[in-house]
Amino acid sequence: MAEYYLELKGVSKSFPGVKALDNVSLSVRPGTVHALMGENGAGKSTLMKCLFGIYKMDAGEVYINGQKVTINNPDEAMKMGIAMVHQELQPVLPRSVAENMYLGRFPTRNYGPLKVIDHKKMYEDTTRWLKEVGMDFDPKAPLSTLSIGQMQSIEIAKAVSHEAKVIIFDEPTSSLSEKEVDVLFRIMNDLRSRGVAMIYISHKMDEIKKISDDITIMRDGTYVGTWPAAEMTTDQIIARMVGRELTNVYPDHPCKPGEVILECRNVSSIHEKSFQDCSFKVKKGEIVGFGGLVGAQRTELMEAIFGMRGIKSGEVIINGQKVETKNPRRAMNAGEGLITEDRRGNGILGCLSIKDNVGISVYDKNLKAGFVLDHGKIGQIVSDSIDKLRIKTPNAQEAIANLSGGNQQKVIIARWLANDPDVLIMDEPTRGIDVGAKHEIYEIMVQLQQQGKAIIMISSEMAELLGMSDRIYVMCNGHIRGEITEPKDMTQEKVMHYATMF
Ligand SMILES: Nc1ncnc2c1ncn2[C@@H]1O[C@H](COP(=O)(O)OP(=O)(O)OP(=O)(O)O)[C@@H](O)[C@H]1O
Ligand SMILES: [Mg+2]
Repeated sequence: MAEYYLELKGVSKSFPGVKALDNVSLSVRPGTVHALMGENGAGKSTLMKCLFGIYKMDAGEVYINGQKVTINNPDEAMKMGIAMVHQELQPVLPRSVAENMYLGRFPTRNYGPLKVIDHKKMYEDTTRWLKEVGMDFDPKAPLSTLSIGQMQSIEIAKAVSHEAKVIIFDEPTSSLSEKEVDVLFRIMNDLRSRGVAMIYISHKMDEIKKISDDITIMRDGTYVGTWPAAEMTTDQIIARMVGRELTNVYPDHPCKPGEVILECRNVSSIHEKSFQDCSFKVKKGEIVGFGGLVGAQRTELMEAIFGMRGIKSGEVIINGQKVETKNPRRAMNAGEGLITEDRRGNGILGCLSIKDNVGISVYDKNLKAGFVLDHGKIGQIVSDSIDKLRIKTPNAQEAIANLSGGNQQKVIIARWLANDPDVLIMDEPTRGIDVGAKHEIYEIMVQLQQQGKAIIMISSEMAELLGMSDRIYVMCNGHIRGEITEPKDMTQEKVMHYATMF
């Protein structure tokens, strides 16, 4: 076998107005996990899509096991033993788990002169592959009944079921729980021992350190270099990714809290298994963190406060006024904003431009003569946010669907900032976002806090929770189990103590 099972040489790719890849190379050894790192928009997904035949490269060569090959479409890529777990999932929600696994390659059997789908085999094989990756869903269950994390696990099972020699993982863990990540890493270790070459894209440093053998770094569509993972510190990785030193990721945020702006009193869900009897307060000029394990019902609680879910009992009070919690519009008018966790599912208007995706939140505040959109003003707000959040795009007219994953998220954040809420709820605000951009988002949070706005931040990243919160509530199993107010008590142990009080 060749030293490198997969080699990409001199790959270039342009889109109108963007040179996404400029002479990029990548060589992956068999039986290794090769991390591909770079800031949002660096070109990682584009490089993988060129390899997988989704995009046609403008220049460049691909070698598999020393042989030069041409890959024109994903079908050919799969026939050559390449599988890909995509950053943006494309599940067919009303269909079953098994149908999603075998879409486009249903097993068939002969029925007289006809070929029909062999459902029995499909269900059996699905169960077998799911078991292989440590899961036991009903293969007949509609996909819509699963969580995003579970859907992602199915994508992973699908890639494994192709028995591929090269597997591309493009941010597979962004919506997985810690337990699901452990399962994925176990599978990857297993694949490694079977000689599979894996490419792993993630913005989570601790994962990269844990799983990868080699690291290739890209910056602005160019190749920076490749190093053995064990020889690089996190700081070195970051410096090479962003091209500058980045010390103090979490900016200072001196907190001078004002009066209470949001209060929840004994809020309970209409669903017994969801949040129950939650009471908490948030003051002006505070960043309040919500910690807890995946499944603690933090997202559900915040969505309910924003009017997206039913509340059986309890009150939500903003600025001294009781808010009708049945309707997000009322919550917005009362001064709430919510940046959702599932930004791809709930946030993005895929076919519209960046301008429309940001502007939509401020249309009713920027009218001329009361009914004509003031495009000049809206355009200004939008271009300010593109600058402020450093959204990588040729211009504001670009369709949001054409942006890199992380930049799409920045657009959604820009939308809520433009609406200027008094209480901003941010659910996992930096998931899928690179370190440089994370720092920018933290700085924006601090700016808002200093202006006297209140911020609620749900975060599953311990360092972020401890680094950014002025005060922390910890949830477990639908209940608020603890409140941490003193800086000296803000420790991982304390958070975990409350987070596991089932
Ligand atoms: N279909 C497309 N049309 C136009 N531009 C595109 C298209 N796909 C990607 N781009 C641009 O190419 C550049 C690289 O994007 P890519 O998705 O490869 O980034 P990435 O490294 O995967 O980032 P992230 O970490 O945010 O996922 C970006 O500037 C993006 O806007
Ligand atoms: Mg990407």
